[in-house]
Amino acid sequence: MSELITIKLPNDMHVHFREGNLLDFAVNATAEHFHHAVAMPNLIDPVTTYKKALKYYEQIQTVSNHSHFKPLVTMYLTGDIKEIDISQGSSDSRIIGVKLYPAGVTTNSSNGVSNIQDCYKIFEWMEKYDLPLLVHGEVNNPETDIFDREKLFIDELMLITQNFPELRVIFEHISTKDAVDFVKDSADLVAATITPQHMVLNRNDLLSGGLKPHHYCLPVVKREIHRKAIAEAAFSGNRKFFLGTDSAPHYKNQKQSSCGCAGIFSASTALVIYLDAFDKAGALEKFEDFCVNNSSHFYKLAKTDKQITFKKEIFEVQSSYAVGDQEIIPFMANQKISWSIAKEL
Ligand code: DOR
Ligand code: ZN
Repeated sequence: MSELITIKLPNDMHVHFREGNLLDFAVNATAEHFHHAVAMPNLIDPVTTYKKALKYYEQIQTVSNHSHFKPLVTMYLTGDIKEIDISQGSSDSRIIGVKLYPAGVTTNSSNGVSNIQDCYKIFEWMEKYDLPLLVHGEVNNPETDIFDREKLFIDELMLITQNFPELRVIFEHISTKDAVDFVKDSADLVAATITPQHMVLNRNDLLSGGLKPHHYCLPVVKREIHRKAIAEAAFSGNRKFFLGTDSAPHYKNQKQSSCGCAGIFSASTALVIYLDAFDKAGALEKFEDFCVNNSSHFYKLAKTDKQITFKKEIFEVQSSYAVGDQEIIPFMANQKISWSIAKEL
């Protein structure tokens, strides 16, 4: 009998469901294994208002084939967002927060924020209504070295947390030891999501021995010292760190291109990748905290009685998924992982 581990159905606190042809595929890849999932608003036509967020929520619900699945949606921060969007969003359990993209830092972020200080009035409303701020934490100066963009953003973030001490802030997909330390040293209202790629890859895995486009995401994976600090933060069980896959599907031809898109599709494999890392670190007893308890606590989410069981048995990741006449390559395609999903619900 192989080793088993059962936990409550996890929450994915950061995921890209996209729109159009990808929506159904992306939603169900997540809905199958997760209870809650926080959908990012960086669509081609970004989700910039309360009304648009509700429309996106309905689209997600319509394609979901899983009744246990509870999507949560975010609004994309622009200088045009109104107090009424914030107040309505805060009293609607389908809306989880507002996402800050510094303009131009990543996929579909051209409508993002150029000067963060211009948003201080909005942060005041968010603090007043207790609506969390989710942050893509990289500076958008194209001249800044790409490996330094997160570290340099911490100064901006520090200003936000100092000026708005009651605002809940989530430093998304952290990629540096500096971000880990910042979050640890901040108040309890500051937390971070951790992706599977930032937990298991360093920049050699992206760049050494051949360029790996399916390991390319933003923020880009960094040196081993950073990977280690992120992984240890997750394994420690510290309540401020929780699961957010940043699963971000792009078609194969857009990834394997002379100018490849940033984003790693991990929805279907993330859980066993995280689990394998926790197991190898001897931290299995903290796995449920990372997957469910920490995010439920921070975001005040109801837990479910539904569970998922994993068994210690080799699982070979599928080489690709067909979506229409296109292909999506999953994270760790064709690789063997020591854990597999035994039973859901
Ligand atoms: O790698 C990434 N992909 N990082 C992001 O911030 C956005 C995401 C996407 O939407 O593809
Ligand atoms: Zn993302």
